Amino acid sequence: MGEKKILFPKIKGLLHGGDYNPEQWLDRPDILEEDIPMMKKAGINCVTLGVFSWSVCEPVEGEYHFDWLEKVMDDLYEAGIYTVLSTPSGARPAWLDEKYPEAMRVNKQGLRARHGVRHNHCMSSPIYREKAAAIDHALAKRFGKHPGLVLWHLSNEMGGECYCPLCVKKFQEYLWEKFDHDIEKLNHAWWTTFWSHRYNGFEQVEPPFANGEGSIMGLNLEWKRFTTRNTLDFMEGELAVLKEAAPGIPATTNFMMLYNGLDYREFAPRLDLVSWDCYPRFHNDGETFRDTMLDNAFQHGVMRSLKKGQPYLMMESAPGLVNWHPYNKLQRPGVHRLAGMQAVASGSDSVQYFQWRKSRGSFEQYHGAVVDHLGTDDTRIFQEAAGLGSLLKKLAPVSGTVVRARTALLFDWDNRWAIADSKALGEQSKKYERVCMDIWREFAGLGVEMDIVGSDSPLEDYDVVAAPMLYLLKPGVGKSLTEFTERGGQLLATYFTGYVDENLLCFLGGFPGEGLKELFGVVSEEIDTLYPSDRNSVRFEDGREWEVREYAERLRVSDARVLARYTADFYQGEPAVTCREAGKGRAYYVAARCAAASMRELFEELLKRAGIPLRPLPASVEYHVREGGGARYEFYLNHSEEAAAVKDVHGLELVGDRYVDGELTLGKYGVAVICRGSGLEQGPEEKGLEQGPEEKGLEQDPEEKGLEQGPEEKGLEQDPEEKGLEQCPEEKRLEQGSEEIKG
Ligand code: GLA
Ligand code: ZN
Repeated sequence: MGEKKILFPKIKGLLHGGDYNPEQWLDRPDILEEDIPMMKKAGINCVTLGVFSWSVCEPVEGEYHFDWLEKVMDDLYEAGIYTVLSTPSGARPAWLDEKYPEAMRVNKQGLRARHGVRHNHCMSSPIYREKAAAIDHALAKRFGKHPGLVLWHLSNEMGGECYCPLCVKKFQEYLWEKFDHDIEKLNHAWWTTFWSHRYNGFEQVEPPFANGEGSIMGLNLEWKRFTTRNTLDFMEGELAVLKEAAPGIPATTNFMMLYNGLDYREFAPRLDLVSWDCYPRFHNDGETFRDTMLDNAFQHGVMRSLKKGQPYLMMESAPGLVNWHPYNKLQRPGVHRLAGMQAVASGSDSVQYFQWRKSRGSFEQYHGAVVDHLGTDDTRIFQEAAGLGSLLKKLAPVSGTVVRARTALLFDWDNRWAIADSKALGEQSKKYERVCMDIWREFAGLGVEMDIVGSDSPLEDYDVVAAPMLYLLKPGVGKSLTEFTERGGQLLATYFTGYVDENLLCFLGGFPGEGLKELFGVVSEEIDTLYPSDRNSVRFEDGREWEVREYAERLRVSDARVLARYTADFYQGEPAVTCREAGKGRAYYVAARCAAASMRELFEELLKRAGIPLRPLPASVEYHVREGGGARYEFYLNHSEEAAAVKDVHGLELVGDRYVDGELTLGKYGVAVICRGSGLEQGPEEKGLEQGPEEKGLEQDPEEKGLEQGPEEKGLEQDPEEKGLEQCPEEKRLEQGSEEIKG
């Protein structure tokens, strides 16, 4: 089952907390005084401080005011609440913009921003970097050794692009490096002779301004890559300051769902842990609630897979509602818990919120918070958050366990950008992300966990790999997929695979390139884009048919078995689904867009060949397994308002304190966690908490007594069926060797 990877040895459990902005309330000590007791009631053990706090921390250039922050951190710590401390670089104070307007971002139109809003500094600006580094250094010196500090939070939701002269110059230097100082290499890679776009020197290359060059696909793609690189460079500047001034504290930055603007896979290796902000549009009128949940599960899967083998954090989520969806609908009762548990089930070691207390004024005054303007703890949202808080406390032993998968979906940011920008197919129907999500969902529906990794990620851990629409092939990917298959892997690819290299030059001599036409034994000669009303289908030998929509490739088959053929149009009877045995494995090619649901039987075949067991589930149930330190936790989440029954479930169920042996019933939005362990001796559960000096606050907090004596625990102790508990290592967790994240 592998070792546990404990992210925060001090916390010994799952994090429950969120953004806390006491700086907005410094003139209201009466309100600040209420916060900590209320946090304890809500089971909060961790908050994020300092996000957007620059103008309070440094109201005038060079004058740092941290006393308020220290007092808050001290008080929190005394109460057993830890701090994630953010650097304030996400929004600039007015004095900075007044004095250094060159730090403000220039947009695609070439227009320099004026002072205001947030997330809009120039990533290249030396003065901005200097000012951010100075305050980061001061923060690290002052708080780096604070016993309550557990994590650095770098800036906030980094994103966007800057077209200022500095960024343009950096882009040109980046290209100069990339193309070996040789403009002819760039001209060739970008095929600039087309439309007479040849460059004589790197200084002539401009980024894709709105009124400038937008017709060179290679340039557009490279600009995206550069933006990732430059943002990363900015982040690494902040990171270096913190690591040097306060070694040993791990660092993260909060990602934004499937944000298209930055390749998060480039960020992950630089961070100690991955975290993200999760804001699904619950109860929208365009899809079912289950659809929303499953697409959200996919995003959790992306985040989980960015740093495999360790938990990640859900750094933000909305208590109740957000204020920026087109319709800010209230989350229905029970959804708070379901969504929080979806994070934990997916491998998150936290449920954190934006935000603890609603701000009184300005842009986000109506965004959901644990504490509303009403200010009391008897609100529906507070109660739901507190309920989840006590559940998370109970599930403390889950922390450090991880989700492991033997199947993988290849999903690349480069490929997203390349497909979206390609002047091919149908503008409305490319839907690369949708195709990936749908395939992932089918595997999830079969009860099979699937990592979501880059096409150039190592594939040794996997037995089944799905590579839908892998249009852009990075160098070495053809070889890696061939090796994967030949050593016994089951590989599935689709139409629109292997058309272009990393610079978006088409492969000559037949798609898919890079050795893949040999691997699949097919060449794609043409791709047909269907109008929305067009239909075709593919028919298998046994008469089964899958409907075809949107895309159909015409194949030449050189060396593969034809499994299905088109039933209509001028390519009726031509091959549409093929399979080639390659070494010990198989390479399947599906040349047309068929609904993932109809391809389910093919997925089942691949899984069976790979010896991966399926987990039959009711249609509304999401399932995940976390493992580590000798224990295994099965999570069942019911997306439906109707009850659901899962068969063949055995073990101690931690949410309802019951022993299940056979059928597990889940109520409306119900969640269950089945714990199955392997004969670890029990230890006194809270021992570590009492012993650690950092835990003083916890020890003194009468509420924590509940942890030792609470009815839930008591029930477990007294339950005769609790025998199962002896095998379940939750009591043992504090003594287990924890592997701290390396700084
Ligand atoms: C983002 C930001 C937060 C807040 C929330 C609102 O995630 O990081 O500061 O604006 O959105 O949903
Ligand atoms: Zn710039």
